[in-house]
Amino acid sequence: MVKLDFNLERDVPELTGKVILITGGTNGLGAAAAVMLARRNPAKIYITGRNESAAQHVIADIKSTGTQTETVWLRCDHANLASVKEAAEVVSAKESRLDVLMANAGVMARPPGLTNDGYELQFGINHVAHALLIRKLLRLLQKTAKEHGEARVIPISSLAFVLAPRGHGIVFDDLKTTQEYWILGKWQRYAQSKLANLLYGRELARRYPEIVTLVADPGPSNTGLVSNLGFLDKMIVYLGNIGRFLDVDQGHWNQVWAVGVPKDQAKGGELYEPVGKPSQAYTHWCLDSNLAERLWDWTEEELRPWLT
Ligand SMILES: NC(=O)c1ccc[n+]([C@@H]2O[C@H](COP(=O)([O-])OP(=O)(O)OC[C@H]3O[C@@H](n4cnc5c(N)ncnc54)[C@H](OP(=O)(O)O)[C@@H]3O)[C@@H](O)[C@H]2O)c1
Repeated sequence: MVKLDFNLERDVPELTGKVILITGGTNGLGAAAAVMLARRNPAKIYITGRNESAAQHVIADIKSTGTQTETVWLRCDHANLASVKEAAEVVSAKESRLDVLMANAGVMARPPGLTNDGYELQFGINHVAHALLIRKLLRLLQKTAKEHGEARVIPISSLAFVLAPRGHGIVFDDLKTTQEYWILGKWQRYAQSKLANLLYGRELARRYPEIVTLVADPGPSNTGLVSNLGFLDKMIVYLGNIGRFLDVDQGHWNQVWAVGVPKDQAKGGELYEPVGKPSQAYTHWCLDSNLAERLWDWTEEELRPWLT
């Protein structure tokens, strides 16, 4: 196992008064991040997802730490933009501040499929839904930055983006198809979506520098995302990450670090590997500002009906 240098009390200041939203907070890294962040006493943590009973377990875990943090489960299905819009509207209506939006929910290596709104499944869940949430909550984040000194967006990407489709990075023409044409199809579709998480984060940082956007690669760890894979896919993960695998109790550390790092010690739009290390693993797509801009424009066009 990799040895990491992270200490919650040393690396994350008290979060008194802050409101945090973690997508996919019902399980895996999002749940672990919520439990850990609650120990720094924010006012409120929203965890989103579809699984209410898993959410109740996370809330019970948080309560058992003795924290005063209020924890709220918010139903939000990323395969259905109407549900994402509704969740964002609940937060905007209830909250006068949003200090951290951790865009963490995700699926990996799923068979071909489409979301309810007709997007390639992994792209729709991992990128399009997060983009809608970010865009709907942008004004609240800006207000928080203005009134409280900062607000953060923490998109969770993955170094799996190295497998993004050659020659394209993102195949815009086919994002509303199941994209069944690659040999490593489910992995390339995942890679494409994780590249989008990074590029959208970079573009968000460029367009809205008043918001601190830090992209995190959690590093590989044995959450349900990995342990629920079939044998061959698990082998792909294990063999592709020799020497990188983290203890399952450490997988969330990097995204928790991103909540706490002083804003003048991190660079907006940068990808951080565990823990807090600027990535050296960029492919040329990751740094392609034209691709990032094209993704932003494509996404804006797609979200237009949902932003009214
Ligand atoms: N674990 C790793 O090795 C690793 C490595 C690199 C990057 N990542 C990234 O880290 C993030 C978290 O992964 P994880 O390992 O914690 O996975 P996980 O244990 O499978 O948890 C995934 C979370 O996403 C939510 N989710 C899945 N589909 C959803 C949907 N349609 N709508 C709303 N929420 C949905 C789930 O909530 P519900 O079931 O309640 O909907 C769950 O809370 C992902 O973005 C992943 O790409 C993970």
